[in-house]
Parts: sequence; C-alpha cells; structure tokens
Amino acid sequence: MDAEQLLTRLYSDEGRQDPYPCYAGLHALGPITALPSRPEHRAVAAVAVGYDLVDEVLRDPEWYKQPPPDWAEQEILRTLQTSMMFVNPPDHGRMRRVFAGAFTPRRLGTLEPVILRVAGELLDRMAEAGSSAVDFVTDFAYPLPARVMAEFIGIPETDLSWYRERVDRIDEYLDVAGKTPQRLTAANTAAAELRAFYADLLAHRRRTPGEDLISGLVGAVDTGGVELTDDELISNLIVLFNASFVTTVYMFSNGLPLLLAHPQVAAALPGDPGLTGRSVDEILRLEAPVHFLARAAPRDSVLGGIQIARDQNVLLVIAAANRDPSRFPDPDRFDPHRSGPPSLAFGIGPHYCLGAAVSRLEGRLALPRLLSRFPRMRIDEPPTYSGSLFLRGIDKLLVSTGREEQR
Ligand code: HEM
Repeated sequence: MDAEQLLTRLYSDEGRQDPYPCYAGLHALGPITALPSRPEHRAVAAVAVGYDLVDEVLRDPEWYKQPPPDWAEQEILRTLQTSMMFVNPPDHGRMRRVFAGAFTPRRLGTLEPVILRVAGELLDRMAEAGSSAVDFVTDFAYPLPARVMAEFIGIPETDLSWYRERVDRIDEYLDVAGKTPQRLTAANTAAAELRAFYADLLAHRRRTPGEDLISGLVGAVDTGGVELTDDELISNLIVLFNASFVTTVYMFSNGLPLLLAHPQVAAALPGDPGLTGRSVDEILRLEAPVHFLARAAPRDSVLGGIQIARDQNVLLVIAAANRDPSRFPDPDRFDPHRSGPPSLAFGIGPHYCLGAAVSRLEGRLALPRLLSRFPRMRIDEPPTYSGSLFLRGIDKLLVSTGREEQR
C-alpha cells in the first residue's frame, strides 16, 4: 500500500480501532513519505514516522505551528491560537514562562499529597463495588487526574461534569479528519461557554483569592508581574486544563490492560519504584495518548530526501515514531526493561509537555496503589476506544476488582 492508501485506511473505523498496522506500513515506506498535492490533504506535504526525523523537526525552533486561515473568526480556534500550545515565538516563550513557574519541583511536591488523597478515596469507592464490575475509566482513570488538576488550578469540583462535556466537544473537533461544520459549531459553543466560565472564576478569585494557580496568576497579572492579558490567561487556562487530564486518563486506561497482561510486572510494581517509573514510560511509548503533531517548514527544505516547500506542513506521527523498529527493537512488545531513547509521547523541543512530570507522578503514585489494593483485578470485556486519532485511548474498561488485599 502507498502512503495515501495507508492514511485512508488509518482514518477508517478499522484504522482508528487499531492504527498500529498502518504505522508499520508507513515505516516500511521509510522515515518520511511525500503525499500527493490534493485539496483534502490541505497543506500537508508529507507524513513522518521515523523517530530521528520526528525528533529533529520537533526540536527545531524554526519549524512552526501554522494557524488555520480563518482562525480569528471561530471562537474555538481563537482560543487555541491565543494559547501557548499553538503560538510561535516570541509569544510562545512569553506565555510559557508564566505557567512554567507553576510546575517547579517544589510545586510538584505539594501535589503529591493531593494525588495520594484522591487516589485513596477512589480506591475505597471501587472496593465498595465488591464483586460487581466497575468501569475503570469512570471510577478511576478520569476522576483522578481531573480532580487533582482541578484542585491545583482552582476549578470547583462540582463544575467538573459540566466542564467535561465541553472538553469532549472540543476534542471531537480536534481529531484528524474531525473538522465537520457540525463539530466546529459545537466546539465554538463549548469554547464560548468555557470562556464565560473562566471570566466568572477570575472575577471571583480577584475578590476572594485562594491558594490555587488561578489566584496566583490573577494576582500577578494585576500587579504587572506577568505579561499576559486576561483574554490570554483564559485561553491558556482552557488549554492547560484540557491538556492535563484527557491525556492522563488515557495513560491510566491504556496502561492497565498492558500491566494486567504482564502479571509479573504488575505484581512487582508495588514494591519497586524504579520499575514503576519505567513501566509508566513504557506505557506512554507503546500507547501514546497523543498520536499526531504537525509543524510547517520555515523555508524550502529537504527532509529525509523529501522536498518540503516553505509553509507546507509535515504530519509528525509521534505514536508511530515511538514504535520505530530501528530505535526500539521488537517495538510492539511491552518491555519496561528496554533501553533506548526516550519516547516522544510528551513531544520534545520548545513545546515539550509542560505537565510531563505531573502525569508521571500521578502514574508512579497511583498505579502501585491500585495494583497492591486489587492484586486479582481482571478485565471483563474488550475495551472501548475513543475512535479519535488525535487523542487515542480507552474510554470504557469494565473490570472486576477481585478480592481486596488486607491492608
Ligand atoms: C500522559 C499525559 C500527557 C501527554 C501524553 C501529553 C502530551 C503532550 C504533547 C505531545 C505535547 C506537545 C505538543 C506539541 O509539541 O505540539 C504537550 C504539550 C503540553 N502539555 Fe501535555 N501531555 C500530558 C499531560 C499534561 C499535563 C498533566 C499537563 C498540565 C498539567 C499538560 C500540559 C501541556 C501544555 C500546557 C502543553 C503545551 C506546551 C507548549 O506548547 O509549550 N500536559 N503535551
């Protein structure tokens, strides 16, 4: 199959359920493959899957994020394009610096007790289900990162289910090949509602500041301590919270089946922090929650022997680069002991994930506790996947917790 046929298959229902054979097909064609110029490819000139090549483009600060032409007219695009995740220098550095201060090792230390408390409460509730099946996503993988980050950012927990519905509308629109007029309208409405939600929250925190991130940021904006408008602050808070939990939900829900399929690893995790850290990284390599990134060429370039004209995009399939057989021998195998380069699950370079350490910490603290509390946990039904390739993961995972271990 050529690259176009492979991409058509990838975007089909079958490809979305299991994209990895398509990625293996793309690897067989080479680290990067040109796409014929057609309207449906928009400005995408090539698709890259080779680890070294994807790594090189992501690290190069000159390869940039290209905004869609009509971004200023759509509320969702305007929100994204005024946040650090989608802007280019110099705005990118200015915005990122404001938030980077919130993710210092000291602040991470303060998150640890929050993660342990929330994880403990969720495990207690799962234990109450006794022998009935529970949905691991609803009962653990989703509420853990959502509640931890909501508390950190300062979003009232009571608003979370309202919030989640808006996030889903936005993620549906962001999916590759998901940009239908209906999804755009739904995402625009969701973005407008979230903006109004944050405007209220900022006003409230100005009147009654707390210890959370929002209180700290409005204080810094008001004293001129940071270079950020309220409008930009709202865009960045929307993107930060979205980025923080949907991805981490999938780290847990994609990871649990891998661990349960490797009982020796699962049994050893609770007493072995080193193995736990490596297992979290191996889950993210093998089942990356984010599959696609893109960058545009700053000038006419040649990449892996392929001509890329200035302002043309290259699709960077990080989930495929993480299974590059030339960098990860036997790439489809879960092996927390493997050596090799770091995975690209969190990206790399100037836009490297701001919350990578937060998610890793959540995984390192929560997974051993889950497995030691329910050592006989088993999966009851085949998992249901999101069907999205932008954010790919398990949305429903029915499990039986089995008899609880005496504590
Ligand atoms: C397993 C969980 C996560 C995964 C797989 C993940 C993945 C990614 C990836 C691939 C990027 C790079 C985007 C690009 O280069 O275009 C990114 C950026 C980002 N992530 Fe994460 N992320 C995760 C968790 C988090 C968390 C917990 C937070 C917040 C606490 C967060 C906040 C961000 C932000 C703000 C950016 C944009 C950084 C910038 O553009 O400078 N992410 N993430």
